[in-house]
Amino acid sequence: MALSSKIIGVGSYVPPKSYTNFDLEEMMDTSHDWIVQRSGIEKRHWVEDECTSDLALQASLKALKAADMSADQLDMIIFATISPDHEFPGTACFLQQKLGISKIPAIDIRQQCTGFIYGLSMADVYIKSGQYKNILLVGAEVHSKGLDKTPNGRAISVLFGDGAGAVVLTATKDSGIFHTELRADGNFAKELWTPAPGSALGKERISKEILDKGLHYAQMNGKLVFVHAVKRMSEILVESLKKSGFSLDDVDLFLFHQANLRINNKVAEVLNIPEEKVFNTIQEFGNTTAATIPLGMDQAIKTGVLKPGMLVAMAAFGGGFTWGASVIRF
Ligand code: ACO
Repeated sequence: MALSSKIIGVGSYVPPKSYTNFDLEEMMDTSHDWIVQRSGIEKRHWVEDECTSDLALQASLKALKAADMSADQLDMIIFATISPDHEFPGTACFLQQKLGISKIPAIDIRQQCTGFIYGLSMADVYIKSGQYKNILLVGAEVHSKGLDKTPNGRAISVLFGDGAGAVVLTATKDSGIFHTELRADGNFAKELWTPAPGSALGKERISKEILDKGLHYAQMNGKLVFVHAVKRMSEILVESLKKSGFSLDDVDLFLFHQANLRINNKVAEVLNIPEEKVFNTIQEFGNTTAATIPLGMDQAIKTGVLKPGMLVAMAAFGGGFTWGASVIRF
């Protein structure tokens, strides 16, 4: 029987301090009702001083423990983030050092809100090829240090939280990951992006002028993102299930990226998926970009919603635009 790859350990971590929408009302001329009605978010966790690899470390240690594995048994680290510790080297290298290991490859990927699905696809291919056996895949973000928390930034800043989720994958002969489908369309790259720092900005990657214009803050065409997210996630879910040999009815649990509760409710409505089969965490954590799916997976395990043997379909959509879906036997 051919090799498959399977998630054998899941962990997550959010910083202890949470901020309700009422806390945000004090900072940025917003309201609890506006945020809940538009996004479903009620609170989010923001760091005091931790960095992205700190959050990732905590999630990774929990995932390793759940997998009954030590860090020195890992063959590779894949780290999805758009809020790295530093410009370079990648945050995977900092995480590797904090895990007390060396030598194994440590790769950073971006892929924004689709980072975890892209990382899952990479891990799956490395494992199925026989090149690596045990891979740590992490999605982690510290957004709070990069948000404009004045009224100017309210349209974006109320949506994002900090957090990390990690999974350990291993080679197995059982059923694990059936299929992962990936897409991107760079025609929409500037519809959801953070322009600075960047080499396309003129003579300098970063300057006082760039900072004065706020180009280091994320920018989003919210309405366009909404329409595309619903369409693309619905399409790719159906396609990846078809390629896996399953139908929507076969799926026990749907884990979607947590950009916006209204997006996920709309995808469920379009595909006629019963509400109780979609596991959402955005109410509590906001949008943690690359961390949302593994964070949700861990919460679903902890609350007894996700159990071994279940058929799980995941889908995400984000900046790029990028989108993807994966079907796994948990
Ligand atoms: N609090 C109060 N009022 C606000 C806020 C806020 N935080 N932000 C904007 N407003 C105001 C605007 O100023 C505007 O006021 P006006 O009518 O007086 O001019 C009004 O609310 C409507 O503003 P819009 O920008 O048109 O807001 P919209 O109704 O489109 O909702 C939202 C914004 C929630 C982002 C919506 O576009 C959406 O759901 N988009 C989906 C994309 C998404 O959720 N992205 C998340 C991250 S991306 C990802 O993960 C894929």
